[in-house]
Amino acid sequence: MAAETALTLIRRSEYQPPCFALDSTHLDIVIFPEHARVTATLSVRRLAEGPLLLNGEGVELVHLKIDGQPADPQDFQHGSDGLLLTNLGAAAKIEVVSLCDPWNNKALEGLYASGPMLCTQCEPEGFRRIAFFPDRPDMMSVFRTRIEADKSFIQLLSNGNLLETGDLPENRHYAIWEDPHPKPSYLFALVACDLAAVRADFVTASGRPVQLVIYVEHGNEHLADHAMASLVKSMRWDEQVYGLEYDLDLFQIVAVSHFNMGAMENKGLNIFNSKFVLADAATATDADLDRVESIIAHEYFHNWTGNRVTCRDWFQLTLKEGLTVFRDQCFSADMHDADVKRAEDVALLRAVQFPEDASPTAHPIRPESYAEINNFYTATVYEKGAEIIRMLHTLLGAGGFRAGMDLYFARHDGAAVTCDDFLAAMADANQADLSAFQRWYAQAGTPHLNLTRQPAKNGIFSVQADITIPQTHAKTPREPVPVPLRLALFDRLGQPVAASFDGGSPAYEMLVLLTEPSQQIELKLADPAVRATDLVPSYLRGFSAPLQLSDDLDRQDRVLLLAADTDLFSRQEAGQKLAIEAILARLDGQLESALESGLAEALIAVLQDAQLSDDSKALIATLPGQSVLEAARHPADPPAIFTARRALMAALAQQMAETITAALRRCDTSQPAGRALQNRLLGWALAGQLPGAEEQAEQQAANLNMTLAQGALQALGQLGGASFERAITAFGQRWQENGLVMEKYFALLAGSPVAGTIECCRQLMQHPAFDRDNPNKLRSVLGVFSGNIMQFHQPGGAGYQFLAEQLADIDQRNPQLAARMATQLTRFAPYGKARQADMLTALDGLAAGQLSPDLNEVVQKAVQARSG
Ligand code: TRP
Ligand code: ZN
Repeated sequence: MAAETALTLIRRSEYQPPCFALDSTHLDIVIFPEHARVTATLSVRRLAEGPLLLNGEGVELVHLKIDGQPADPQDFQHGSDGLLLTNLGAAAKIEVVSLCDPWNNKALEGLYASGPMLCTQCEPEGFRRIAFFPDRPDMMSVFRTRIEADKSFIQLLSNGNLLETGDLPENRHYAIWEDPHPKPSYLFALVACDLAAVRADFVTASGRPVQLVIYVEHGNEHLADHAMASLVKSMRWDEQVYGLEYDLDLFQIVAVSHFNMGAMENKGLNIFNSKFVLADAATATDADLDRVESIIAHEYFHNWTGNRVTCRDWFQLTLKEGLTVFRDQCFSADMHDADVKRAEDVALLRAVQFPEDASPTAHPIRPESYAEINNFYTATVYEKGAEIIRMLHTLLGAGGFRAGMDLYFARHDGAAVTCDDFLAAMADANQADLSAFQRWYAQAGTPHLNLTRQPAKNGIFSVQADITIPQTHAKTPREPVPVPLRLALFDRLGQPVAASFDGGSPAYEMLVLLTEPSQQIELKLADPAVRATDLVPSYLRGFSAPLQLSDDLDRQDRVLLLAADTDLFSRQEAGQKLAIEAILARLDGQLESALESGLAEALIAVLQDAQLSDDSKALIATLPGQSVLEAARHPADPPAIFTARRALMAALAQQMAETITAALRRCDTSQPAGRALQNRLLGWALAGQLPGAEEQAEQQAANLNMTLAQGALQALGQLGGASFERAITAFGQRWQENGLVMEKYFALLAGSPVAGTIECCRQLMQHPAFDRDNPNKLRSVLGVFSGNIMQFHQPGGAGYQFLAEQLADIDQRNPQLAARMATQLTRFAPYGKARQADMLTALDGLAAGQLSPDLNEVVQKAVQARSG
């Protein structure tokens, strides 16, 4: 067994304010063919006793001057983390010249080459790879940046407004940028490129003209239209909903092909993974287009929630990320069907964040410690963080929430603050006591809410509510958290029944705040003649709190809600609960025919419901996801669950055959909602091997609309076999010149339970369109493979070994990516001993090698969580 080494942890409790203020930063960045030379001139002013650390990693020191004089060797120490200046006076001008090598930077942090262009990624700690600098988010300053390079780099871009450009000898030129808004170094950006500019004009609500520019590769201009339209919508929405305007004359977005994450909100110069900019109906699916829109919005919204008000330290990451995800979710809900959007967001949370919260890397949305901050850009900080903001919105109401936001900006504009500061603004603006609510920030683990109906009293519907907080590997406190619970009542005919809670006025939906670990909810029925025993409760409507719910509803109750619930999430959830029961029964070798035919009938009714939108139908007619099923069975056997789910799908499809076939003929595939339903139905038809389905899918795979093509290929991929082979081969040939579409080709193969073998993945990694240095490509093969239940979890652990072997290699170049992709190997908690042992063997193999701090933290936390 590999040695278990203690991690060196940075703790939230050890935060120290900086000893110096940074009044201004001047950068002079000169790009040469073999390196970049950076001169950083910093004006600092002493605030407290103590030294000044200029972080630096992998940068070569050329010289250091203090107040114009070369620094005395006694005045500083040059260590592995940078330059420690120990002898500064009350104020100083520091000039530090250094070199970095963008051309060999495969980590994609700091200044690096993406194809022929140069770009930066500084969040969270990338700036220290560009220059010696106090690289911490509470060090805010104005920046003036001069960039000099060969003229083959047509554009020289940085944050803020362009002050000056000019020619230089030897075919070189320069540009000078000034960003008037104080910012931390993580929001710095530089791009040197030869790209096409797509422009639009925007005028803010108060009349400020803003030039919008999106830079893409020449020839891709038409693929930026959707991103540009999304940007304009986002800017308008933030004005209308939050009264927040853009604050510079220029807003630029650059699309780059080599990028570790989705996008980055650098002030006035967002840098995007090209996958989230370039999109049209021929090359991107409807879901891709929506994702582009929401990421454009997310990064734009950071201009206020993140940039104008930023994080004091990285433990506060959810301050900007949870809040900004909540804002982008609301934006997308306003642009599209709000109920469908909510159901999708909940599905993502349950598929990704719940497993994380039960894993060795579990952490609260505001972590207490970390070894490598890059590992904390997680579903917990982002998605659970957004749920916690959403609960505040629910508790305070839209008006109260807005008042809290207004106070937050009034108090903290231009400052680096904490989650406590945010909560204080929310509390003060509403005269609310949020002291118990704070626990949501401090405690890891998904709370469990159990609801049990109590014997009926006259005119009262009464429910016992018990909340438990699980123990996690984060070992955080387990105190009761306040839970906003939305609920409603229906009679046996599916009609809503009005009731009131705690003296409120009667309504069809009630909001109850649970504050105790154990509590009784009493709903007073508006009509005392209604018998409480005849009512069916609809709980946790809209998923009003991020928790696991169990209740005592029976099958009949759920069938009723699936047919009649007016809340889309709860309606879908009723069907999911029935399907879980049926799948678990099949897993045990039992066939619950009454349950299954009841479910089939209910789904038929849903598909025939003329009141229901096509995308709502597609949503309800989806069986529960793998991770939800795994959480319902201890220990879980992933391939067995996958197979049982598939078998239920086949059986239901046969019972629903007529309806499916008829509905398939009627789908309006000119609309996104119709396409969503079409693809869902085709999946059912193929699962049930309905006559003509395979031929229809093969035909659809050649459709010129990417949503339809990909939907068909995905459905065919579940079967594998000759039609899939033909269709996917044709698809690969058609798109071989398009890097982004080839990522879909890789993912369709690597994700097929039949075709996506280890051997297939190895071959894909030899494909001419594959690039070992490109995170999108690695994710589309290896990331997708690790979600391929049948192949990744194949008996014997070969899938785990394969991933581990690839991660060890990726870690040599891109530690951040390796650590992120390793998390799948650490999600062993739901499984049996033998499978856990296989996963741990792969992790032990990794631990025995030389790992980056990033990957080491993930692997160590996993092996230390080994049970027994
Ligand atoms: N702040 C970015 C966002 O959520 C996240 C991000 C982009 C990031 N690139 C990164 C985080 C690189 C860590 C490393 O909008
Ligand atoms: Zn963000």
